[in-house]
Amino acid sequence: MRRYHILAGGAVLLLLAGLALSCPARCECSAQSKSVSCHRKRLAAVPEGVPIETRVLDLSKNKLRIITPDNFSSFHLLEDLDLSDNLISVVEIGSFRSQLALRSLNLRSNAIQLVPAGVLAGLGNLTGLDLDHNRLVVLLDHAFQDLRKLASLQVGDNELVFISQRAFVGLSGLQSLTLERSNLSAVPTEALAHLHNLVELRMRHLSIALLKPFSFKRLSRLCRLELDYWPWLDSLPPLSLHGLNLTQLFLTNTNVSAFPGAALRHLPYLTHLNLSFSRIEHIHQGELGHFPHLTELRLQGARLLSIEVDAFVGLVSLQLLDVSQNRLDSLERGVFASPDALHRLCLGGNPLVCDCRLLWLLNSHKPPSLHLLDLQPQCSAPEYLSGKTLRELKEPLVSRYMTCSEPRIGANATQLLMAYEGQPARLSCAAEGAPRPSVVWITPHRRYVTAKSSGRVEVGADGTLEIKAAELHDSGLYRCIASNPAGNASLWASLAVKGLGGRDGLRGSNRSSNYMANSSSGSGSSSSSTWGNGTVLYNMTVPIDIKTIIISTAMGCLSFLGVVVFCFLLLFAWSRGKGRHKSNFDIEYVPRKSNGASAEAAESSGPRRVNMKMI
Ligand SMILES: *[C@@H]1O[C@H](CO)[C@@H](O)[C@H](O)[C@H]1NC(C)=O
Ligand SMILES: *[C@@H]1O[C@H](CO)[C@@H](O)[C@H](O)[C@H]1NC(C)=O
Ligand SMILES: *[C@@H]1O[C@H](CO)[C@@H](O)[C@H](O)[C@H]1NC(C)=O
Ligand SMILES: *[C@@H]1O[C@H](CO)[C@@H](O)[C@H](O)[C@H]1NC(C)=O
Ligand SMILES: *[C@@H]1O[C@H](CO)[C@@H](O)[C@H](O)[C@H]1NC(C)=O
Ligand SMILES: *[C@@H]1O[C@H](CO)[C@@H](O)[C@H](O)[C@H]1NC(C)=O
Ligand SMILES: *[C@@H]1O[C@H](CO)[C@@H](O)[C@H](O)[C@H]1NC(C)=O
Repeated sequence: MRRYHILAGGAVLLLLAGLALSCPARCECSAQSKSVSCHRKRLAAVPEGVPIETRVLDLSKNKLRIITPDNFSSFHLLEDLDLSDNLISVVEIGSFRSQLALRSLNLRSNAIQLVPAGVLAGLGNLTGLDLDHNRLVVLLDHAFQDLRKLASLQVGDNELVFISQRAFVGLSGLQSLTLERSNLSAVPTEALAHLHNLVELRMRHLSIALLKPFSFKRLSRLCRLELDYWPWLDSLPPLSLHGLNLTQLFLTNTNVSAFPGAALRHLPYLTHLNLSFSRIEHIHQGELGHFPHLTELRLQGARLLSIEVDAFVGLVSLQLLDVSQNRLDSLERGVFASPDALHRLCLGGNPLVCDCRLLWLLNSHKPPSLHLLDLQPQCSAPEYLSGKTLRELKEPLVSRYMTCSEPRIGANATQLLMAYEGQPARLSCAAEGAPRPSVVWITPHRRYVTAKSSGRVEVGADGTLEIKAAELHDSGLYRCIASNPAGNASLWASLAVKGLGGRDGLRGSNRSSNYMANSSSGSGSSSSSTWGNGTVLYNMTVPIDIKTIIISTAMGCLSFLGVVVFCFLLLFAWSRGKGRHKSNFDIEYVPRKSNGASAEAAESSGPRRVNMKMI
């Protein structure tokens, strides 16, 4: 061992003397930095005459095809070796055996197909290895075994199909790994699990379509995960990131269409979240959860249509929000937990409706520390402000045009409806206002039904409550509340469901409940139903207002159904019509007691009064 040192020392001395002379023919050498550059010299082999004390050797952009143990065996002091952009397809085992001091090895852009165990043996001080843009198809077990100090590994732009479970064994110092542009069809979970000290993982341009639960396990030090350009990924399942404790997550250029709230919930320490260029359309209230440390949220170029009020209440430290290039028509102040903490906002490139909801972003109103970045947000409506940037908006334009109007619910406001069990029923609530009011229906059982609800009872786009198949316990009083930032309006509607076997939902409506109504308009309805015991089917437009019936009667063109409807209306009016005026009925009813659910509602509120208007 000692003899070897003396020998090597001797050689160094010898060559130091002749340094000025020793530089390969076409290369440039610097004695001071002990570097040799043979960049782009069309070399087909490692040139003769490289000084053996060379520390930095650049052989990039040449025509090297093979690396053998002889090539670098005499350069014990080599720290930086650049072999990128050659034609290397074979690196023989032991080629870097004597490069104990090597820190950086660049093999990028070659034609390497395999890294067998042993090829990189000896590189105990290597910190950076670049294998990007080669022809690696698999990474074999123990390929990087000796690289204890390797901090950064790049194996992108290969055709990697498979990473063996033990490929990364020994990379105990690895902090940053980039896996990009490969043919992997799944996250190499088992292989990655050996990287206990990994801090950054970048996986870009992959065609992985599915993230399995616990895809990234035992990566307890991982802080930053970048999944960029995964065009096939359409969701982030709840447990897919479980086990990680990230501070930065990039999930960008994906096909993810719903906000991945459940998957993120396990990452309470997140400070930066980038979900740009996804297909997320809505962020609902409460969906994001609580991220007390999140300072930056980016959702640029997604397909955002709405961010609900209170959507970001869990983001108490949010300083930057980028929602530029989306389809948002507004961004309400109430979206944020603390709008005053927000410093930077990117809102450009959205079709903004400049009404009262955006007042808080005008220079005169906005929190003093808030800056609007990038493109200045522009109004696309109302017409008069279209094309103007928020910065330009001043009085008197503001008080004249940046306004909202309270919701108003259409004229045929109060409804009394009856439906047969099993038949659909619709209660309308056509609300107008600017911005368009959102509608919530409260059922007799105090359930809130909104446009987001799904199931047997839903709210349609126009605010109509749609019961797909009425059940007896649906009978009762419904309330529709339409609200927008300017205020709210409400409306009551009552529904009586008539059972087919003579049972019904409302005790007081046993007779008159054969009268069918379709609430979608006050003046006519089109129904199809069975009639009593028999099976008389009718399907026609039935005018249910008295005037029309009287006119029809007078004209003598009364159908069987018309007669029936007319009789029921008379019956109805007669039996309930104590407080009858010219065009109003006052009806008092008590929900059916035998029906458990409606009885509850009745007990709490007693008999109710309904005002029914006939046009
Ligand atoms: C390389 O690493 C070994 C231990 O693995 C260490 O003893 C040696 O000093 C290092 N050499 C250089 C040049 O850093
Ligand atoms: C990798 O994917 C590319 C493009 O889809 C394809 O051309 C190539 O053959 C694939 N390579 C392997 C090894 O599967
Ligand atoms: C993204 O999702 C949409 C809708 O589900 C689908 O039509 C489209 O093909 C998807 N794109 C990719 C690349 O998977
Ligand atoms: C998660 O990360 C945060 C910040 O990096 C750290 O304070 C916390 O202790 C970590 N939690 C666990 C369970 O490792
Ligand atoms: C967020 O992701 C997008 C898409 O990859 C990228 O363009 C943008 O630079 C990222 N933002 C930050 C701050 O890294
Ligand atoms: C409707 O507005 C009133 C005040 O105008 C308010 O007290 C009430 O809470 C609002 N209701 C809803 C459901 O928004
Ligand atoms: C109610 O009437 C509308 C048209 O006015 C019709 O489209 C709808 O199908 C009817 N609903 C029922 C339950 O009959």
